Amino acid sequence: MNDKFYVTTPIYYPSGRFHIGTAYTTVLADSIKQYHKLKGEESYMLTGTDEHGQKIEKKAKEANKTPKEYVDEMAKMAKELWAKMEIEYDDFIQTTEERHEKIVQKIFDRFMEQGDIYKGEYEGWYCIPCETFFTETQLVDGKCPDCGREVGLMKEESYFFNMKKYANRLLKYYEEHADFIKPEYRKNEMINNFIKPGLEDLCVTRTSFDWGIKVLKDPKHVIYVWLDALTNYITALGYLSEDDQKFKKYWPADLQIVGKDIARFHLIYWPIFLMALDLPLPKTILVHNWIMMKDGKMSKSKGNVIYPEILIERYGLDSVRYFLLREMPVSQDGIFSPEAFVERYNFDLCNDLSNLLNRTVSMVNKYFEGNIPLYNGTPNEVDKDLEEYALSQIEKFDEKWNNYEIATSIQEIWNLVARTNKYIDETMPWALAKEEQTEKLKACMYHLVENLRKIAILIKPFMKDTADNIFRQLGIQEEKMKNWENLKIYDKIENSKVIEKGEPIFMRLKAEEEVEFLKNIMKK
Ligand code: MSP
Repeated sequence: MNDKFYVTTPIYYPSGRFHIGTAYTTVLADSIKQYHKLKGEESYMLTGTDEHGQKIEKKAKEANKTPKEYVDEMAKMAKELWAKMEIEYDDFIQTTEERHEKIVQKIFDRFMEQGDIYKGEYEGWYCIPCETFFTETQLVDGKCPDCGREVGLMKEESYFFNMKKYANRLLKYYEEHADFIKPEYRKNEMINNFIKPGLEDLCVTRTSFDWGIKVLKDPKHVIYVWLDALTNYITALGYLSEDDQKFKKYWPADLQIVGKDIARFHLIYWPIFLMALDLPLPKTILVHNWIMMKDGKMSKSKGNVIYPEILIERYGLDSVRYFLLREMPVSQDGIFSPEAFVERYNFDLCNDLSNLLNRTVSMVNKYFEGNIPLYNGTPNEVDKDLEEYALSQIEKFDEKWNNYEIATSIQEIWNLVARTNKYIDETMPWALAKEEQTEKLKACMYHLVENLRKIAILIKPFMKDTADNIFRQLGIQEEKMKNWENLKIYDKIENSKVIEKGEPIFMRLKAEEEVEFLKNIMKK
C-alpha cells in the first residue's frame, strides 16, 4: 500500500456547459481517489480550469465580458457542477491565479537559461479551437487533423522548445516503465506516430494575441497555452513557491487521467518538460476514450448533447456515476443511449441490487424479527461456496481496479450481486423456515447481510449514498464494519438489527416513457 495517492484530471477549457463526456474524467478521478481513501491512504485530487488562449479571449468577447470576468464565472459554474456530483477535489486551480502564473514564468525562464528554449520564427497552420499548430503534412484535407475545422496560416517570431533533444530519453523511459502509460497501445501510438517519424521542436510562445502569461524578459510574447496548462499539476502543489510542502509530499503524481484527444500533450510534451525540470515523472498516465452518442460525437449542433444535471435530478447521482463508469470501458469509446441508461438502471440497479437488499431486509424481519443472526463460523457446503466466491470476486475487483480497468472491475461486483441473488434460490429460506431448519436459516440470513455489507463497501468509492443507504437499512453502524480492512473476512455483525420496513434504493422505471423523456431532453 502507498501512503499517499495524488490524482489529477485535465484542467477544463471553460468554454460552455459541461456535458456528461466532460464529467466522465472527473467522476473517474474522484472514484479512484475515494477507493484509495477507503484503503486508508492520504489521497489528494486536483482539478481546475485552463483559462488562457485565443479561444477563451474570443468567447469572452462574444459574451461581452473581460476574459477574467468570463473565466471566473465559468470556474464557478464548474465548481457548482462538481458539488452536485459530489466530487471531492482537494484543490481547484485556475490558470489565471497568481500562484500559477508566477511559477509558469519562472519555469519558462529556467528553460531559457538552460538552453531548452530558443528564439526562432514560426510558420504553420494554426487551429484556434484546438490551440495547436500543424505542419502542412499533418493536415487532413487541408483541415485540422484533430477536430476537422478550418486552420489559418500563421507566421510569427516565436520561442521554441527543443523537443528533439529529449526524444531518446523519452523512448528509453517508456521502455523502462511499463506502468507509465495505460492502456499500453497508447504508448505504441506515440512512438509510431510522433516520436519515430521525428519529434518537431515545439513553438511555445505567441505574439498575435494577448490573453496569456507574458514571457518576463520579452513581454510581447505570451506563453503557449499547453506549456502554461500542463504545469498546473505542479504549480497547484506549490512547486518553486515559498510553500512547497504539498509538492514534496505528493509529487510525483500517482495517476494523471486524460482523454484520448490530449494524449499527445501528456505523453510526450509533459514528460519532456518534467525531464527538463529534473523532476520525476508521474507513475501512470491513464488515457481514456470518449463517451459517444449513437450518431457520433456529442455536439450542440447535432442536438445530441446530454448534461449531467438533468440526469441527476431525475434519476439520482449514483445511477449517473454508475452508468458513466460501468458503460465506459476506458480503453474503447463508450456509447450513451437513453435505452442503455434505462436498461442499466432497471436491470443492474433495480432488479439486481435493490431487490437483493429488499428481499434480505424483509426476510430478516420475517424470520428473526429484524435481528441479524450471529454466525457460528462453520459454513455448510452452499455457504462455503458462496464465501469463496465472494472473496475471489473481491480479489478480482481489486486487481482490475488497480489496473484501472474500472468498468470490468465493477462488473465483478455485479457478478457477486447476481451470485448472492442466486444463493437465495439455492438455499430457499422459505422452505428452511417451513421445515424449521433454524441453524441453516440463520446462516443463510447472515450470509445475505454479510455479502450486502461487502457489496456496499465495494461500491462506496463511486456510489457513496447508495452504500450508506445499504449500511443504514442493514443496521450496520460501526465504522470499522464499513471499511476495507473488514472486507475480506466473514465477520461478526454484533447486535445489529435491520430496519423494520425496507425501502427500495432504486425504483423500477417505466422504460418506454423514460427513453422518450431522454430523447426529448437531448433534442432540447
Ligand atoms: N484544457 C485542456 C486540458 C489541459 S490539461 C493540462 C482540455 N480541456 S477540455 O475541456 O477540452 O477537455 C477536458 C477533458 O474532457 C479531456 O480529457 C477530454 O478528453 C475530455 N472529454 C471531452 N469530451 C469527452 C467525451 N465525450 N467523453 C469523454 N471525455 C471527454 O482538453
